Amino acid sequence: MLYRFRTSLLSIFLAASSVTTSHSQTAVSKTRTIPQGSIPHLENQGSATQLIVDGKSFLVLGGELHNSSSSSVEYMRPVWPYLATMHLNTVLMPIAWETIEPEEGKFDFNSVEGLLRGAREHNLKLVFLWFGAWKNTFSSYAPAWVKKNTERFPRVQMSNGMDTERLSPFSSVVRDADAHAFSNLMRYLRDADGNTHTVLMVQVENEVGVIPESRDHSSVANASFDSSVPAALTSFLEKNRSTLDPKLRAAWEAGGAKTTGTWQQVFGKTPLTDDLFMAWHYATFIERVTAAGKTEYPIPMYANAALIRPNYEPGQYNSGGPLPHSMDLWRAGAPSLDFFSPDIYFNEFAQWAGSYARPGNPLFIPEAQGGATGAANVLYAFGRLSAIGFSAFGVDDQNNTPLDLVGITNPAEHPDNNVLSDMYADLSTLAPVILEKQKTGGITAALIEGEAQRSARQSIGDYTATITRAGGASGTAARIGAMFIQTGTHEFIVVGCGDAQVTFSTDKPGLPIVGIESIDEEFFVNGAWVPRRRLNGDENSQGQTLRLHATDSAQGRIYRVRLYRYH
Ligand code: DGJ
Repeated sequence: MLYRFRTSLLSIFLAASSVTTSHSQTAVSKTRTIPQGSIPHLENQGSATQLIVDGKSFLVLGGELHNSSSSSVEYMRPVWPYLATMHLNTVLMPIAWETIEPEEGKFDFNSVEGLLRGAREHNLKLVFLWFGAWKNTFSSYAPAWVKKNTERFPRVQMSNGMDTERLSPFSSVVRDADAHAFSNLMRYLRDADGNTHTVLMVQVENEVGVIPESRDHSSVANASFDSSVPAALTSFLEKNRSTLDPKLRAAWEAGGAKTTGTWQQVFGKTPLTDDLFMAWHYATFIERVTAAGKTEYPIPMYANAALIRPNYEPGQYNSGGPLPHSMDLWRAGAPSLDFFSPDIYFNEFAQWAGSYARPGNPLFIPEAQGGATGAANVLYAFGRLSAIGFSAFGVDDQNNTPLDLVGITNPAEHPDNNVLSDMYADLSTLAPVILEKQKTGGITAALIEGEAQRSARQSIGDYTATITRAGGASGTAARIGAMFIQTGTHEFIVVGCGDAQVTFSTDKPGLPIVGIESIDEEFFVNGAWVPRRRLNGDENSQGQTLRLHATDSAQGRIYRVRLYRYH
């Protein structure tokens, strides 16, 4: 996968717009060059891949809006200031196909313009979610002229021959119409945002797949299922055999790693084969949409997946989405996508996030639980997995119940329940050092995910930190996260979330016992770190442990810990 965009795409010349539009900017015909490297892009930086915005690495501290919020600029008017209080730097929001192309070939970008304006006025960046042909397997955001013409825009069918409310990934007509709309959106963004860079990335479609059957049973899908697996896929499998996902590799090798044959001959007569078949066809469809958009404006683009509950079979989950076992097919079928993302609502955050943080696939989590759960998880994502971004879902919901499960809560309304927004405040001051350490090493994190887990151990430098539950925690507060940033051989910055104590040990040669020299609260004031209280007494068991608190406010959550060794 290429993280530096191709030289051929660097100089973009505006062509006269061929579309009818109600927005004056796209009606203007002019020629303009976007300077090399100036638009948001991904770059390999040391051991990490990072998002570069205006020449600098950028950590996305995000929140995603509810699905319908961005369909109305008026609705968003009071939401913007509310979002701005939450310490997030980026808002993820849908742009629906039906909004920008309500009539075929007639584009209206007024609402997109209003969203760009709202974000800029509140100093926020955006990630747009293209709700084109599919949103959560359905096609509910396609324009009426598409929805109502099932002859021209065919549907995924059930095995009983019934249509579903899903456009067919096997239809080139659907694909080209989606790609046409998306390329117009990206052309508009190039014109309206090519210099300002409010929009950082675009998600192409949302949680695709089929459900409750494991594959499309239309006649065109059946014919494709019974024909040969495309050579483009089998040659990818051969070339990348040693790095293939173990589940995919096992399915392929069980049949003798064939390079020709039908889907069932190559991957076996199992429901997984249906999932892989659908994955390939969603990927190749979305490749055409993505490539069309990138031809206009090549900012980073990705696809997201709904995850799987344990032991679920394809069709019980969205069959065909970019899941860990099918990510290789997606890479082969959709090389224009920069990465694949998990939407993580399950408690097994470390496992799911870890399965997407792969070589060639930087971790970006567009949807996740917020509140205290999110605050612990975000530490793990940035500290352990070098994530480029994290985003809680439903952040514009001002009546979250329960407060911890949905988005970030409004600090003004819930003064003691703003754990994730406080964490974002801390992380925004720490962002430069986090980004630097993601490149060079010297950053890690640990997570305690449920009440059954009492402790976690994590090594950094010459030391091992043991994080132990402080007891009494229940429910979602049972989750504990701690991030460790090494600032010297014996010195660390620690950020935590949850009731826990941290002790330190070493297994490195030399003096065997580790003592805590000092623990200082650190504050970022006028661009510099300054210590306040020294915590070497009751607050930290007479200097024996670092104490982390579930209810820490933004003030006093960052600690500088100095260690020493003796015998
Ligand atoms: C996952 C989807 O991607 C979102 O658009 C939204 O529907 C959430 N689920 C709701 O929990």
